[in-house]
Amino acid sequence: MQPTLLSHAKITAFGAYVPEQVLRNDDLERMVDTNHEWIVQRTGIYERRIASDEQFCSDLCFAAVRDLQSRYDAVLDDVDFILVATTTPDTYFPSMSARVQAEFGIASCGAVDIQAACAGFVAALQLANGLLLSGVHRKILVIGAETLSKATDYTDRSTCILFGDGAGAVLVERSEEGAFLGSYVRTTGEEGHHLYRSSLSSSIGGHPIDTTGKIVQNGREVYKWAVTQVPKGVASILEQNGCRAHELDWFVPHSANMRIVESVCEKTGIPVERTLTSMAQYGNTSAASIPLALDLALKDGRIKTGDIMLLYGFGGGLTEAALLLRWTL
Ligand code: UT7
Repeated sequence: MQPTLLSHAKITAFGAYVPEQVLRNDDLERMVDTNHEWIVQRTGIYERRIASDEQFCSDLCFAAVRDLQSRYDAVLDDVDFILVATTTPDTYFPSMSARVQAEFGIASCGAVDIQAACAGFVAALQLANGLLLSGVHRKILVIGAETLSKATDYTDRSTCILFGDGAGAVLVERSEEGAFLGSYVRTTGEEGHHLYRSSLSSSIGGHPIDTTGKIVQNGREVYKWAVTQVPKGVASILEQNGCRAHELDWFVPHSANMRIVESVCEKTGIPVERTLTSMAQYGNTSAASIPLALDLALKDGRIKTGDIMLLYGFGGGLTEAALLLRWTL
């Protein structure tokens, strides 16, 4: 393997959180015209976690960071930048990252939220690597957190069966021996109107849109895009870094749909058994889905120190962000 990314970054702590309330497929059967078999067969999702009425994105961020503190005995006082990836913040501003700064009393740091939908967590890791490489920053808290249930239309069976809530957090610190090995990004903004959540405008690039602020998706179009583009991106980042599919210890794609993951694996030669996903337990949690998949695999001991893994976020934008890294915990 020949790393192609200039990197002074390594992950030094990890935490995650999901709300207690569970929404199962049979609960959804009572809400819309759907059934457990269809959902499992078409998506691989069995259940999702739903934030309570009093719980918002910031609360999920705080809980994931507390988990990180307790699992790795992590010190936050010297964190000098916070990046939160989310599409469902409690408020547009103050940002969720500023709320995290205040909650943990971090004395002096930058705080920026980024919005790259389901690619958000990986995009934030890429940005963290750049900030560390600049030499200005040394310790960055990166969080992917979503309360998608609060932006889901529970009368639309094509979307409400998909989404769930959760959060994951990592500390990324400066280290001479960088563990981020390769990076890939691609954006297809021309197709952005196929997956959106409206804000102030009633159109996207001339396409009229629903203005309820709920998540709207043309599932078939996004599916076609994902199974076409993601394999190309996977092949590209592996080739650039001289890494063959079977050399990956873990492929961690965004957990949108198990059929997409299987199709990507078939097209790229990555064994499905080498993938880490979170959709069965938590549904599609957008920016949180990749850290939640890591959390499940850390807890059952599948991930080992030194493992080579490819994180691959894709979704609204339409945007892709991938990172090849060595696991350093
Ligand atoms: O996270 C960001 C990126 N997002 C993605 O990557 C998601 C990409 N898209 C998908 O994962 C899939 O398109 C969905 C899971 C959203 C939908 O699966 P599909 O196999 O593409 O279904 P479809 O939209 O083609 O619909 C097939 C049939 C339709 O019925 P007809 O027209 O064939 O009679 C739908 O009306 O399934 C019907 N249908 C449902 N039936 C039962 C749609 N939703 C449901 C449902 N329960 N919940």
